[in-house]
Amino acid sequence: MASTAEHITAMVRSHAAGDDAAFYSVALQVAAREAKQGHHVLAGDIKKAVDSSRQRTPLGAVTSMAQPRGELAELVEETHAKVSLRQLVAPADLVLQIKQVIAEQRQRKNLLEHGFAPAHRLLLEGPPGTGKTMTATVLATELSLPMITVRLDGLLSKFMGETASKLRLVFDAVARNRAVYLFDEFDALGADRSGNDVGEARRILNSFLMFLEEASPESIVLAATNHRSILDKALFRRFDAVLTYDLPDTRQAVAVMKARLGSLVTGTSLAKLGEYTNGLSHAELVKASESAAKVALMRGESHVDREDLITALRSRRTASLG
Ligand SMILES: Nc1ncnc2c1ncn2[C@@H]1O[C@H](COP(=O)(O)OP(=O)(O)OP(=O)(O)O)[C@@H](O)[C@H]1O
Ligand SMILES: [Mg+2]
Repeated sequence: MASTAEHITAMVRSHAAGDDAAFYSVALQVAAREAKQGHHVLAGDIKKAVDSSRQRTPLGAVTSMAQPRGELAELVEETHAKVSLRQLVAPADLVLQIKQVIAEQRQRKNLLEHGFAPAHRLLLEGPPGTGKTMTATVLATELSLPMITVRLDGLLSKFMGETASKLRLVFDAVARNRAVYLFDEFDALGADRSGNDVGEARRILNSFLMFLEEASPESIVLAATNHRSILDKALFRRFDAVLTYDLPDTRQAVAVMKARLGSLVTGTSLAKLGEYTNGLSHAELVKASESAAKVALMRGESHVDREDLITALRSRRTASLG
């Protein structure tokens, strides 16, 4: 039987790793040992403590990465927004690609049993504010998985060895805790950001690609970037799918505004606004809609008219182009 010291060591390790299951399991081993020695009250107390703290774990925590701790906590951030696929305004083929990933992930057991990996490594590329981060949230929501954003600034270090060991930490989590992992501003990995020379940056990127190659298909790893052109084309092959985002066309622009404004624009004609929406991203259209809504509401009205929208869109465009 393990000694008290061994139990304590195991508990400290699992605590540091944020591995609640292992932590409780060691606690229960201690309870069992106490019971064997005739300390039934003490054993009962330990069991009760384990049961009640297990119940306190928040909803959905079964799949959740038990609060990342230690070094990992500085590298990742868990977010809890919920967004359904219906809310994403995107061309049909992009929606299909996302649906395919969701379907493959839902059927992953079936696929893996037959030696096929579900799509789990995706490159998301396109201009700012067009739905890349939103897609990560959609995947997490649709698959009821936690969404984990990897902080690249925390990851990058002047020392290659350090960056590689941090990457290893993140990819260990990818294997252990099923979730959607988003490497935002992914291009920074392959660019010179921390005073490294180009060769060093290249090695960091290669080390990422090595981990990606072996990444567990249980989790989804997303790499997002605004700069398609600076990425090496050979890189695209390393992903199971490349999702391309673009600025919305007029019809999509109207859909974004309608979705944000809801009943505030019932009856308002949103036709022929292309001249004003052209060049704006989805995110900017959401912001313009919000300004228009506030103006109308503060005027004491519960309706946004066409002129409100045009004014807001105009000033967004000036801001974004200027
Ligand atoms: N395709 C879209 N459909 C509907 N809303 C969108 C879409 N894209 C962006 N939005 C809105 O804009 C917000 C910001 O978008 P998001 O963070 O996904 O952009 P991004 O592509 O990740 O941009 P960046 O490259 O700057 O990180 C979203 O939370 C959502 O409100
Ligand atoms: Mg983003």
